[in-house]
Amino acid sequence: MDLPDPDSVPRREFCKAAVALGGVAGLSACLGRDGDSDEDAVEGGPLDGVPAGDPGDAPERQHAWNDALDRDEAGNAVPPTHHVLRYVDVDRGDETLAAARERVEAAFTDLERAFERSPAGLLFTVGYSPSYFDRLSGSLPESVDLPAPRPLTGLEDPSFDEADALVHLAADDPAAVLAADEALFGGATAANGVAVTDAGDLFEPVDRRTGFHGPGLPRERRDVDGIPDDAPVPEGAPLFMGFANGFAASQATEGRVTIGAGPFAGGTTQQVSTIRTQLDAWWSQESHAQRVAKLFSPTHADEERVGEYGERLGDDPGVADLPEDAVAYAREEGVVGHAQKAARAREDGEPRLLRRDFPTTDGDHTGIHFLTLQESIADFVAVRDAMTGADITDETAVGSRVNNGILQYLFVRSRGNFLVPPRGLRALPDPNPRHDR
Ligand code: HEM
Repeated sequence: MDLPDPDSVPRREFCKAAVALGGVAGLSACLGRDGDSDEDAVEGGPLDGVPAGDPGDAPERQHAWNDALDRDEAGNAVPPTHHVLRYVDVDRGDETLAAARERVEAAFTDLERAFERSPAGLLFTVGYSPSYFDRLSGSLPESVDLPAPRPLTGLEDPSFDEADALVHLAADDPAAVLAADEALFGGATAANGVAVTDAGDLFEPVDRRTGFHGPGLPRERRDVDGIPDDAPVPEGAPLFMGFANGFAASQATEGRVTIGAGPFAGGTTQQVSTIRTQLDAWWSQESHAQRVAKLFSPTHADEERVGEYGERLGDDPGVADLPEDAVAYAREEGVVGHAQKAARAREDGEPRLLRRDFPTTDGDHTGIHFLTLQESIADFVAVRDAMTGADITDETAVGSRVNNGILQYLFVRSRGNFLVPPRGLRALPDPNPRHDR
């Protein structure tokens, strides 16, 4: 991919492109843009304004990011701005498992030393796929539900992400994700001024995907396929569909998504659907009220609950207090909302998924890396079934996927399932590890 002319696009847009490009070239472009490109920083020297960290501060749950995240005025957790998903296979050659494990753990610990565990520094998780565990002797304990990925609706035909491991890197400063990525998987021997143990030879890159989350970012990137160039995406919206997401009341707590028993207690499962969105009709044919009805619910549209992009919702989109019988509701209204449908899968009134999704322009097309954390993959399947709403499509005049939430705009391209172990087991875990390994 080509980088835009740094003088003709806003800084944020340029940096997003640099993250997507990756490598030394991306890092160097990103630092050069800020005028502080010195060879030293590109080669792993200190980055301006990026705080160092202390591995001793890291909690046992890799996915415990919420305490470190900023909050907006309503108290919603604010996701980091820049994201890289690194899909890799593990190849340790002739090295013993113990030695390889030690090097991988050392590299991750070094990253924690190099970067404060926060959006200003770096947040990351590492997860392992069913194919990774299948190749090892022994099997996962019953307390871990990690099936191979599969299509979840008749409307999708995804490919499957079966790489051994997925590393999710996230930070507000694009240079931080790029430097961490280079130190783990590229040629850099340090990041942010701290030497990082070389474990790159143990990982074979399979795929690298990128994205971003922040108000105004989709508006700046309307020039890609999948959305009209002049789509009136509000400045405040972090999603290409023109709204905010991730309101606190619609998110599972970190406790709810944590595996409670067995050797992987403290871990979680991670599902990533890479979704392409086709939003030409969304922006050219739907009114604002129709967009609200399809994303939230017709009640939200009638009562003007949402505002321009969600600023009236506070910390609760209020989808749980709608009539429980969505089929009857759909029959009456002729439209049913996405969030309203998905909320039917709550358990005891509590959401089951902690959604950490972020938009993307990978392949110069709008999309979303729909990354979720849940205790078991079965939780994800149940919520996805509710979101798909086959019962609604089959049993009402709403028919097909038109007017059934946002289904007609989404195309799942690939899906992967991963186990994100507790921190103590994050380096090349056995399927059924002993705690004293
Ligand atoms: C382009 C893709 C998607 C967009 C733009 C999107 C957007 C949204 C928005 C704006 C909300 C309401 C506010 C909030 O996030 O708190 C929401 C809620 C939700 N969405 Fe999505 N979503 C997408 C795909 C999916 C998929 C594939 C699932 C599959 C499981 C899903 C599950 C949920 C759930 C569980 C909720 C919360 C429901 C509750 O309150 O219990 N979303 N989504």
